[in-house]
Amino acid sequence: MSDREEAIAQYNDAYGRGEELVFAAGPGDLGCAHIRNEQGAARVCLQGAHVLSFIPAGGQDLLWLSSASRYRPGVAIRGGIPVCWPWFGPHPEDPSLPAHGFARNRLWEPVESFVDRSGATVLRLALGSDAETLKLWPHDFRLELEVRVSERLLVEMRAYNTGERPFRYTGALHTYLRVGDVSDSMVTGLEGESYLDKLDDMRRQRQDGAVAVDREIDRIFLNTSRDCVLHDGASGRRIRVAKNGSRSTVVWNPWRDKAESMPDFDTDGWQRMVCIEAANAEDDQVEVGPGRDALLATTLSTESGG
Ligand code: BG6
Repeated sequence: MSDREEAIAQYNDAYGRGEELVFAAGPGDLGCAHIRNEQGAARVCLQGAHVLSFIPAGGQDLLWLSSASRYRPGVAIRGGIPVCWPWFGPHPEDPSLPAHGFARNRLWEPVESFVDRSGATVLRLALGSDAETLKLWPHDFRLELEVRVSERLLVEMRAYNTGERPFRYTGALHTYLRVGDVSDSMVTGLEGESYLDKLDDMRRQRQDGAVAVDREIDRIFLNTSRDCVLHDGASGRRIRVAKNGSRSTVVWNPWRDKAESMPDFDTDGWQRMVCIEAANAEDDQVEVGPGRDALLATTLSTESGG
């Protein structure tokens, strides 16, 4: 048995729950938790505590995942819900450091699983600072991420400061939502909010009406905790994105040219996705004192009607 197979067997012994929660090698041998109950099903890659898929019972996947994703140690997966932490976007001082931080590229450990009173299956994963993370970011920390699967999906991350000094971070649950046709979709819940336009030198603008996704879009909405709804006209579906501990919301679609320049975007994938990210970015940094923690959470659920 390889070390990897042994680890997967140990995870199944400690945290597996019959057919409801099974660990397997998964794509690229990165380790993957398969969760299935009467209300829904999800897959979570252990690299990055990265949710790859969430399907409510009788429904379609809420998440888009590129079939051209590379599943390799230390390489970010395209689609699903990447965990961006402890910085959002490029590192503010050193652009040679990995974009969106390192949490999405590290191997997380399962630490707990249970079924709650409502019948939702819960898996908790953790990541702690070590010699490698300290080289990238000089702070001691522990992250705990909970995935709670019912007819909705809750992803809830807590960042604990286990060091002696306060730290500041930015980050996001970078959710790639699946749509039937991006040109027939829009995002409500951000009307009147201020945003930084990443496509216009971070110019500060105000959102007028719903966000139409009819061209490349990359906006960081600041100081907003409101729910968003993604209206997917082609599929006749609405996805509600609720959040907690998040003061920024990012809306992103690379459109054709940028997607074609990204090798891990599958052909026409940009037409099938919209990112709505529960974030704390730019002005909305989070400070955590020693012994304290901070929350970042998002809940995805479907509503009928496009
Ligand atoms: C979004 C950013 O959150 O993530 C975009 O706003 C960025 O600017 C996109 O291009 C994808 O980032 P990455 O590192 O996963 O290619």
